[in-house]
Amino acid sequence: MSTTVEAVAPDTGAITSSELAKGRAFEGTIGAYTVADARMVCRGVDVYYDDKQAITNVSLDIAKNEVVSMIGPSGCGKSTFLRCLNRMNDTIPGCRVTGTIKLDGVDVYDRKLDVVPLRAQVGMVFQKPNPFPKSIYENIAYGPRIHGITNNKAELDELVETSLRKAGLWEEVKDRLAQPGTGLSGGQQQRLCIARTISVSPEVILMDEPCSALDPIATAKIEELIDELRENYSIAIVTHSMQQAARVSQRTAYFHLGDLVEVGETDQIFTNPHHKLTEDYITGRFG
Ligand SMILES: Nc1ncnc2c1ncn2[C@@H]1O[C@H](COP(=O)(O)OP(=O)(O)OP(=O)(O)O)[C@@H](O)[C@H]1O
Ligand SMILES: [Mg+2]
Repeated sequence: MSTTVEAVAPDTGAITSSELAKGRAFEGTIGAYTVADARMVCRGVDVYYDDKQAITNVSLDIAKNEVVSMIGPSGCGKSTFLRCLNRMNDTIPGCRVTGTIKLDGVDVYDRKLDVVPLRAQVGMVFQKPNPFPKSIYENIAYGPRIHGITNNKAELDELVETSLRKAGLWEEVKDRLAQPGTGLSGGQQQRLCIARTISVSPEVILMDEPCSALDPIATAKIEELIDELRENYSIAIVTHSMQQAARVSQRTAYFHLGDLVEVGETDQIFTNPHHKLTEDYITGRFG
């Protein structure tokens, strides 16, 4: 007995995987969004600003000791997604987040959870350096004091020094700790903000275009620092520079119109993207 095999599948109107890969429609993230040693686990995250949806069904893990970069055209939701990770969106009126986000297995959106320690555990560095209008010393000592880490002068002195050392700033500022943080250069201010984040012992550091206001030399210093910080922290960085993403991150996530289109090893994303939308973006045809 013989059977005839249809060589061409009947057109059911369904989108095939090859059509999907060509970008005909978006039906879910391409690539492994999970990791074995996850520090943060995000599942089915949606974000709305009033009625407008800014993030749709994003699932993504952030591993221990890794840098994940988030890239994509302006307005695709990179900052919105990053802000979900330490509930910074809570501060935006009309912003609503659904889905699950866990840090070391703990639900970050649990109503009983106190966001103040959360924002120390998941620290954030912004596009524009924003030192407090205080001395360099106080910029670092303030966090450990309010988070109850220590109030002891000798311990604070030590914490200020180690934080500034880890941020690669100690040698440049050790003789001017009493001077205002705002008197430093832009690149130094950004390292001061990184030192401030480190001083409260975070597990994850979020960075939203941390180098976009910096010159190439200051940028190179921050990139070097990101690589060193990976030894102790998980880092998620939003960047408009694909070169930067390629230099600093082990995994890259490509966002488009609120969707996480593709995620994978950084080398793969930049040399062999699997989704047409990713390819268009990285080859400069879009965005
Ligand atoms: N506070 C807000 N209120 C209302 N809508 C917002 C707010 N912040 C962002 N949006 C909208 O959400 C969408 C995603 O914005 P988001 O700032 O996250 O994008 P992005 O990828 O970080 O862009 P860029 O690269 O320009 O920084 C955009 O349509 C934006 O207009
Ligand atoms: Mg942004």
